[in-house]
Amino acid sequence: MFPTRRMRRLRRTEKLREMVAETRLSVNDLIYPIFVDENLTEKQPIPTMPGQVRLSPSDVRSEARKLVELGIPATILFGIPKSKDESGSSAFDEKGVIQNAIREIKDETGEDLVVITDVCMCEYTSHGHCGVLKGDVVDNDATLELLRKEAASHAKAGADIVAPSDMMDGRVGAIREALDRSGFTEVPIMAYAAKYASSYFGPFRDAADSAPSIGNRCGYQMDQRNSDEAIQEVLLDIEEGADIVMVKPALPYLDIIRRVKEEFQMPTAAYQVSGEYSMIKAAAEKGYLDEKRVVLESLIGIKRAGANLILTYFAKDAAKWLNE
Ligand code: PBG
Ligand code: ZN
Repeated sequence: MFPTRRMRRLRRTEKLREMVAETRLSVNDLIYPIFVDENLTEKQPIPTMPGQVRLSPSDVRSEARKLVELGIPATILFGIPKSKDESGSSAFDEKGVIQNAIREIKDETGEDLVVITDVCMCEYTSHGHCGVLKGDVVDNDATLELLRKEAASHAKAGADIVAPSDMMDGRVGAIREALDRSGFTEVPIMAYAAKYASSYFGPFRDAADSAPSIGNRCGYQMDQRNSDEAIQEVLLDIEEGADIVMVKPALPYLDIIRRVKEEFQMPTAAYQVSGEYSMIKAAAEKGYLDEKRVVLESLIGIKRAGANLILTYFAKDAAKWLNE
């Protein structure tokens, strides 16, 4: 009790604070999302995400090289294909935008960069839903067949990790089986396990051209009001074979990150999504916030909550700041 116990003693100098810091943010924690657009011949800025671009297929190698130089261990790939149809068939085209990008990046960087692929149908379907439609609902079990093919085709092209983000029931088990049957027993699954129906995905849907043209994703993504349900989702994904589990978005769901980490002690990822990025960018552009400090504070918060890995559009900036 005061005056013998004085908490300020260990806050006195920078070195002392450094010594007793409980949370460390490292460049090794970061995963950088990349958008590759097959329709482009040069990179194009994403208006709703200042500082982020859609790459053309020919930009992919140099971008991957840049990530390695910054010490960022992994990227997650999103593709915008030339053609879309009702069942998103370009998602498992051997010469599809992502399959080509994987081969280019692996050829350029080998084991120096972990290539993760987002496995979902929404960038490839004409209606923008994360699976095939039967009437106006996404048909769960029919979608599983497509996800199997998509994940296996990514693995075949050389993906190091596949990351299903569709929120169909049973997808992790279906993908695990498809990978194992095609000989990819060593390819891990990073499951978007607790993925909420969030308005924070808004800028991404412009970036990836994946907004649903009718309806919304509330019939498959999680209800914002639920927390116990996240535990059930994560449990199922682990039972079906997930190697890494993800909570998404990050900042509005820090409580979920903490619960998932405490409950399962699994490698846990959190996705600081497009809307989280764009809010900070917009405030920084207006001079309302100090971008560097706020970004690092948000990343520390996500780690302190229990995340081991953070998918973030700030990865390159954060890597520079952490390397300074
Ligand atoms: C695809 C997918 C989405 C995101 C990651 N994978 C969009 C969505 O579910 O609508 C969102 C990422 C972000 O907002 O940064 N299903
Ligand atoms: Zn989707």
